[in-house]
Amino acid sequence: MTGPTSQSIDELVQTALGELEGIDNPESLDRWRVAYLGRRGSLTQVLRGIAQLDVEKRREAGALGNQAKRTLEERLEQRLQQVNQTQQEQAFIRDQLDVTLPGRPSPIGRLHPTTQILREICDAFGAMGFSVVEGPEVEWDHYNFEMLNIPKGHPARDMWNTLWVDYQDPSNSRSMLMRTHTSPMQARVMESSQPPIRVIVPGKCYRYEATDATHEWHFYQVEGLAVDDGITFADLKGTLYEFARRLFGEERRVRFRCDYFPFVEPGVDMSIDCFACKGEGKGCRICRDSGWIEIMGAGMVHPKVLAGVGYDPEKYTGFAFGLGPERIAMLKYGIDDIRLFYSNDLRFLRQF
Ligand code: PHE
Repeated sequence: MTGPTSQSIDELVQTALGELEGIDNPESLDRWRVAYLGRRGSLTQVLRGIAQLDVEKRREAGALGNQAKRTLEERLEQRLQQVNQTQQEQAFIRDQLDVTLPGRPSPIGRLHPTTQILREICDAFGAMGFSVVEGPEVEWDHYNFEMLNIPKGHPARDMWNTLWVDYQDPSNSRSMLMRTHTSPMQARVMESSQPPIRVIVPGKCYRYEATDATHEWHFYQVEGLAVDDGITFADLKGTLYEFARRLFGEERRVRFRCDYFPFVEPGVDMSIDCFACKGEGKGCRICRDSGWIEIMGAGMVHPKVLAGVGYDPEKYTGFAFGLGPERIAMLKYGIDDIRLFYSNDLRFLRQF
């Protein structure tokens, strides 16, 4: 019986290594290992055949056979590492960049409900020829009260719960406050320009207020002012009626009732008929069964206010109004707590 020759061992090694090169996964590598190095593997059988050789040939073939076995084992180990690494890299790339995944939606911002309603209000008046101006939130007592016919010690000051700022102008002992309304801009606008005037003033106001569902210590107002030769109460009514219809629907009716604000005469509050119960007023949460909803204060600019800014009250007349945009938004969108506007709860804000 003939045993393995150095040539047949060499051929076997070459074939095995050739196959090994083409293998690219651990399962096939294992099959390769069993086929050559396993108990019944080709190399194992060759090594067994060495025992049948003559003594001299056996030594030489034994050395060759052992060398062959080591070679295959080493190359198997190397190949196994290569295959594992390639597989890891491929998995990494696959998991990192799955081009089939849909894109991540980027969060889209939106306008705060107050901003939205402010824009709507400004658009409505803008279409009627009013331009938008803004004024300081920290204001002099002089503009917030005195120029508006509310002198120091006047009981009308009690209508505004005021946040005073701890600052006094040493030169004239005037004091500062967080403006309690946007009305001080009436005086500032008239001081710095001449009629005809048609402006609206959106802006933040502050009051020393215990908050509840309908009161905030900070909120917005939109002031309106129109002054010219020959402006009458009919202009006020027409303008505000048009506004109410633009914001709350063509079929709205309006109601004016006497009210008191020191800087207008006569002064009114304006209501719209309830759009929720259509003025029926039965079990209605929005108008509390009255059928009417108050939406703003207004009136003809007081002659003292006109005279205070140097206008001749015999020549010029005007009307002014002030409304609360949050209240308008609450009515329009059925929001029942004004504090929601500024508590930064995205669950609320995302609804608009
Ligand atoms: N400034 C008044 C308020 O805050 C509202 C108002 C403005 C009333 C203009 C009449 C005219 O209550």
